[in-house]
Amino acid sequence: MGLVTSVDEFREARRAWAAQGVRVSLVPTMGYLHEGHLRLIDAAKERSDVVVVSVFVNPLQFGPEEDYDQYPRDLERDRRLAVERGAAVIFAPDADVMYPAGSEIRVVPGTTAERWEGLARPGHFVGVLTVVAKLFHMTNPHVACFGQKDYQQLALIRQMVRDLNWSIEVVGVPTVREPDGLAMSSRNVYLSAAERREALSLSGALSEAHAAWRAGESSASTLEVIVRQRVEVCPSVALEYIAVVDPDRLEPVDRVDHRSVIAVAARVGPTRLIDNIILRDGLSGAT
Ligand code: PAJ
Repeated sequence: MGLVTSVDEFREARRAWAAQGVRVSLVPTMGYLHEGHLRLIDAAKERSDVVVVSVFVNPLQFGPEEDYDQYPRDLERDRRLAVERGAAVIFAPDADVMYPAGSEIRVVPGTTAERWEGLARPGHFVGVLTVVAKLFHMTNPHVACFGQKDYQQLALIRQMVRDLNWSIEVVGVPTVREPDGLAMSSRNVYLSAAERREALSLSGALSEAHAAWRAGESSASTLEVIVRQRVEVCPSVALEYIAVVDPDRLEPVDRVDHRSVIAVAARVGPTRLIDNIILRDGLSGAT
């Protein structure tokens, strides 16, 4: 089918799949696809017959000072990459289809959204949950795949599905990294060569904290110091937060266990990057 921009056209296809008993998965994205997104398509393919990839740069989740206008876009390339990887449909509605004039109902998250990314980006998660809720209703998937790279987002989407009683299986997919450990992100294209080298301190620091935990360290504040010291030697990296937290509500913990998560956010030059590690899993995708 390829590219679909109209909700009615999509629903027609969706009805035909339903009549055939086809299992449908959704991979929501904002486009400019990289290997991280494509790995979500792989995960979706393993769990369904038809993979739908949505491409929509969601204005509602960007703050007024953020990069909505500059956010990289290349729909034709996204369509080609997604289809090559096995997606059946690229659903790419326009902003006025997603938010017609007068649309004002929002999905309001709870306390899990008040910390970390939510604090740094007021209103961000209202925008994310609202658009994901709309995409879920437009596409009606059995399965939806999200990256662990955006850990808090994944936790909130799981909460939304649970709290609103939707029967959608939410799958979290490990972070895909460059060979040197940098978490893949559409925003990496903003980095200069020097900034990119310093950005590596984020995954390097998480990896060091993980090694310390493996060696027996369980104090959250000690692990935080390990991360901070590794990052602070890089002049272009300004840490915003280091979160040593439980995996569900992202509340700070004093002592970590195998389920704990360490998440970081930093500005590298003008670019804001996030990364995290689930202690049980280590630095996913690292070579
Ligand atoms: P976007 O940043 O395009 O990411 C789309 C999906 O790809 C998210 O689930 C994200 O966690 C995942 N992803 C990004 N980089 C990844 C990596 N290196 N490894 C694994 N997965 C990765 O996240 C969004 O868009 C939006 O907030 C969205 C959910 C689409 C709502 O607008």
